[in-house]
Amino acid sequence: MVTQTPSAVVVLAAGAGTRMKSAKQKTLHEIGGRSLLGHALHAAAGLNPEHIVAVVGHQRDQVSPAVDAVAAELDREILQAVQEEQNGTGHAVGCGLAPIPDFDGTVIVTNGDVPLLRPETIDKLRDTHVSEGNAVTVLSIKLDDPTGYGRIVRNDAGEVTAIVEHKDASAAQHAINEVNSGVFAFDAAVLRDALGKLDSNNSQGELYITDVLSIEREGGRRVGAFVAADAGELEGVNDRVQLAAAGRELNRRLVEDAMRGGAHVIDPLTTWIGVGVRIGRDVTIHPGTQLWGNTSIEDDAVIGPDTTLTDMQVGRGAKVIRTHGEKSVIGPNANVGPFTFIRPNTEVGEDGKLGGFVEAKNAKIGRGSKVPHLTYIGDATVGEQSNIGASSVFVNYDGVNKHHTTIGSHVRTGSDTMFIAPVNVGDGAYSGAGTIIKDDVPPGALAVSGGKQRNIEGWVVKKRPGSPAAEAAEAASPATDDDSAKTDN
Ligand code: UD1
Ligand code: MG
Repeated sequence: MVTQTPSAVVVLAAGAGTRMKSAKQKTLHEIGGRSLLGHALHAAAGLNPEHIVAVVGHQRDQVSPAVDAVAAELDREILQAVQEEQNGTGHAVGCGLAPIPDFDGTVIVTNGDVPLLRPETIDKLRDTHVSEGNAVTVLSIKLDDPTGYGRIVRNDAGEVTAIVEHKDASAAQHAINEVNSGVFAFDAAVLRDALGKLDSNNSQGELYITDVLSIEREGGRRVGAFVAADAGELEGVNDRVQLAAAGRELNRRLVEDAMRGGAHVIDPLTTWIGVGVRIGRDVTIHPGTQLWGNTSIEDDAVIGPDTTLTDMQVGRGAKVIRTHGEKSVIGPNANVGPFTFIRPNTEVGEDGKLGGFVEAKNAKIGRGSKVPHLTYIGDATVGEQSNIGASSVFVNYDGVNKHHTTIGSHVRTGSDTMFIAPVNVGDGAYSGAGTIIKDDVPPGALAVSGGKQRNIEGWVVKKRPGSPAAEAAEAASPATDDDSAKTDN
């Protein structure tokens, strides 16, 4: 960094964003698990500026609380300015300066719908601005197709003289492929002065921030451009197609970060990682995996294929296969999946297991305990080294209230056990297959329920005559005396 003049960042987010065709304000749409505006504010905060001001307008009942939420997340102040009517980018920047009337330093202007811009790039713009002693510096980009963008006009000496909007540009100017990204650095005092001189004599009848360049240039001050190395960083999001494209690019970066951090991502194209996710070394991520929220994956874990984890903690060496999990903890070396549904507040202990077609919710499964097959376990505590038989249900709901089941350590319950909560099963207890546990089982006891099995011979042939079942039963019946005459023995 070149200097340390104080900085303020004004983030414009007052526009309507009609092309999104959405009830949600444009900048609140998310990529990588964070809103577009969140990305812009995080980038702003990355400069560590004295002030950040978000300019809100359209649907500010949605946008204002979102700004406050990002401020809380960043643990810093973000001021808000309201632009009641969208009279153009120049007007919006003027609104953005209102909360910081005495600020004297460098004002950076960015857009709330440009989510891929890196703080380092803004930093370079700021450094160029200060080291060149400019009144205004625009972050420009070179595009193969500059259609729609404001063009950077330079004189024969290569000096920037103006920005001309596409709609206001001449045919010759349309050929210019260096364009305005919409990001600027201004000297605060110069900016305040120039904003007062803007007029709306243009094709859109708006106050253009871009006109500040020609105003300053004509006023004899230095105006410059810093050309961004990666134009992709400055792609704006105006519709759903661009939203998906920006999401894909952000994901490419995040997956690359994970790989550079030592994760083995088998298929970067089908792996999706949110901005808040932490991934350790020698983690293997199989295709079709999505990791969101505050998920963390410790070293040596294996995730996927086809697994979606949100706000999950996965311990070292755990295996999580074809699983959908949320707000839960999977202990070190535990095994989960395939086809497992983990709902909030579940904890699988070290070396524990949640197997195929198991749904868990608010359940603490102790170290080494296993719930291997076809089971619903909800509102339960299981001690250590216990095994829950296949096809069991923790019957937690009486139709009005939820109740808890507590299972001790070294318990072995039979297949198809129903635990009618609230109920306790003591350490070392067993249950027989098909047991309905309504009462507590003492330590070491075997619980069985239901009477002795009764077979009513010949019931099907008698009660369902002529049915396929009856025919099958007849064919399988022991031979009668008449039949035996037909056989050789
Ligand atoms: C603007 C620039 C153009 C540049 C392009 C880059 C102007 C006049 N033109 O054009 O040179 O190439 O961005 O993407 O500045 N906004 C407000 N209030 C308003 C108007 C806009 O907050 O009254 C916000 C919008 O929400 C958006 C940003 O300012 O975040 C840019 O506005 P937009 O209307 O998209 O400008 P462009 O026509 O794209
Ligand atoms: Mg735009």
